[in-house]
Amino acid sequence: MAQLVTVTKEGNVGLLALNSPPVNALAHPLRAELERAFAQALGDPEIAVIVIYCEGRTFIAGADIGELGKEPRRPDVPDVIEFIAAAEKPVVVAMHGTALGGGLELALGCHFRLATGNAKLGFPEVNLGILPGGGGTQRLPRLVGVRRALELVVGGAPITATQAREWGLIDAVIQGEVRPAALEFAEGLLRDRTPLRRASELTAKLEEPGLFEQWEARISEQQRGFIAPLRCLQAIRGAVELPFEQGIELERALFRELVASAQSRAQRHVFFAEREVSRLPGPSDSAPLREVRSVAVIGVGSLGTGIATCFADARIAVTVIDPSRERGLASEETKNADLIVEAVGDDLGLKREVFAMLDKVCKPGAMLATTTSSLDIDRIAEGTARAGDVVGMHFGTPVHAVKLLEIARARRTTPDVWASALKVGKVLGKISVPVIAHPGLAADRMLAQELREAFFLLEEGALPAQVDRVVRDFGFPLGPFAAIDAAGLESVWQYRQQNYGRMTARERSCDLLEKVYALGRLGRQTQAGFHRYGAGGEQAPDPAIEELVVNHSAARGITRRSVTDAEILERCLYAIINEGANVLAEGVVARALDVDMIWIHGYGFPIYRGGPLFYADELGLPHVQRTLVALQARLGAEYWAPAPLIERLIQEGKGFYGAAPSAPAAA
Ligand code: 3HC
Repeated sequence: MAQLVTVTKEGNVGLLALNSPPVNALAHPLRAELERAFAQALGDPEIAVIVIYCEGRTFIAGADIGELGKEPRRPDVPDVIEFIAAAEKPVVVAMHGTALGGGLELALGCHFRLATGNAKLGFPEVNLGILPGGGGTQRLPRLVGVRRALELVVGGAPITATQAREWGLIDAVIQGEVRPAALEFAEGLLRDRTPLRRASELTAKLEEPGLFEQWEARISEQQRGFIAPLRCLQAIRGAVELPFEQGIELERALFRELVASAQSRAQRHVFFAEREVSRLPGPSDSAPLREVRSVAVIGVGSLGTGIATCFADARIAVTVIDPSRERGLASEETKNADLIVEAVGDDLGLKREVFAMLDKVCKPGAMLATTTSSLDIDRIAEGTARAGDVVGMHFGTPVHAVKLLEIARARRTTPDVWASALKVGKVLGKISVPVIAHPGLAADRMLAQELREAFFLLEEGALPAQVDRVVRDFGFPLGPFAAIDAAGLESVWQYRQQNYGRMTARERSCDLLEKVYALGRLGRQTQAGFHRYGAGGEQAPDPAIEELVVNHSAARGITRRSVTDAEILERCLYAIINEGANVLAEGVVARALDVDMIWIHGYGFPIYRGGPLFYADELGLPHVQRTLVALQARLGAEYWAPAPLIERLIQEGKGFYGAAPSAPAAA
């Protein structure tokens, strides 16, 4: 293994090179080595200036996220940073790649900062449900002012080196390699006898009164439900109101609180799940992935054009083909494409025709993808002589806004085609989730369970506004009825038509969707669905719908009752968890994280709850099981029989993610 930190000397400059691939995260061994090497450089009488830089693709991308939440090991990140900051010899840091979180905090602890022109600098901790805990909330506002500190720390997005220079976060943008540029800068310091500058000795300026209050309002609107942004703000306020050392103590206390919080546990889980999800579970196939340099999208509707735009944005050559035009399917673009994505109407006959035609014209080795979520992909593939090349790519709509992309393997899809399609999704910036083709795939199937309960709750006594409020308060961006309005009633209407044969008598008779649809209230596009919408999109409850719901209950002989918020949340949420367990047990998806990614990136399940199965683990599966049993006793076994997988995991003392959490959070 290469040395983690190498010390070299050039004249009176000591250079510390960190080398811990892939991203130089400040894991314990690297911290310990850095501390040791720094002490060596400090103690070396020949060294007058110390330079810190990184080898590899990036400067330190932060603390080691895998260590967060575990017992801290000395030297911890703040220990190393304070050790460096206190040095009496000037310390220069040179950054390249992504200098993030604890990495950037370490840079703030140094006395002079440089960055390459293409470097990105930022504090993404808020996305992990924590705050910068290595002095960042105290040094940053002292260097760049409170407004910009809030932007960086509460917002979480990185800035460019040029911006960082303008803000005074760094001293210079460097050209070329970091080592020679940093060396030259260090020699200049020596030559000019530049005194060292400590950020901790500056004063944090509040540019205008009321800034914190403005940000609080912004957070409650844009980061509703998240705790970390408010704690970030509180820590930055400390930089204005407290001496540096006390500000650091405040930051440490808030950091400890957040790192131990359920929200941060969930957000860290999401970080790793997002990276794991597009790797195929199980042993990898030896066949190389197929290259996708050109794509033909069949279909000129909003789905087809949306998909084509995604490819174009990812700089992949793409053509939209109108299948109704003469030679449309047989055009040169289709013949030469590496991937053909069919996005015609959800009609089996039509899709089979398209695929039979593609089979004739496409080049050997081309991948043929269908966007269906509800039809049997095997039936689509069987009309071709290359069923191994056929795969499902189910995009959410609107395509540009929904990150979820289900990559469905049909019975004969070859592993390399499945893996290649997953990779394509990643290139598109989507969260591609591998699923086994199954009419309804995984996402629609789970959503259908939640919607079933939402509609039952309406006929039992709730109204759309109440159901939506409760689900939104849990952390979804929209409640189920507002979400149907946003997507358009058409898609749910179609799903019900296609699945009518499989529905129970109660589900069929609970036809509120059809009733609203029949009124031509197709959702936001018609400014009316389960709610009504003003010209500016403002949503309001509609008495006409409330009357329709009440009349529906009467016509079905159901005596309406008052439904509590707790019941609404329980039924919507546990329907999702239970079906998620079934989908997993049946092998429609291979891992609990697939279910969680589907819900977070497909349906807006709150990130800070980690997805339905992670959340179930946090509640504790015995608690989940008891709730399901109680629902079964009250509402019947038809829908509420606890998934056998939950029972089995409890017997094995496990959760969906392995060992059951030792201290389950309260419901
Ligand atoms: N800790 C541990 N592992 C990390 C890591 C980190 N900070 N950053 C990245 N990794 C791992 C990833 O999990 C991945 O591992 P895998 O190959 O086994 O899946 C590998 O490094 C490469 O990461 P990506 O696939 O994400 O590579 P990209 O090139 O797409 O992105 C990146 C690189 C921009 C650095 C991105 O990984 C990233 O955003 N990382 C997280 C940065 C972050 O959140 N830093 C703050 C950490 S918390 C902190 O610093 C606390 C402090 O205030 C005390």
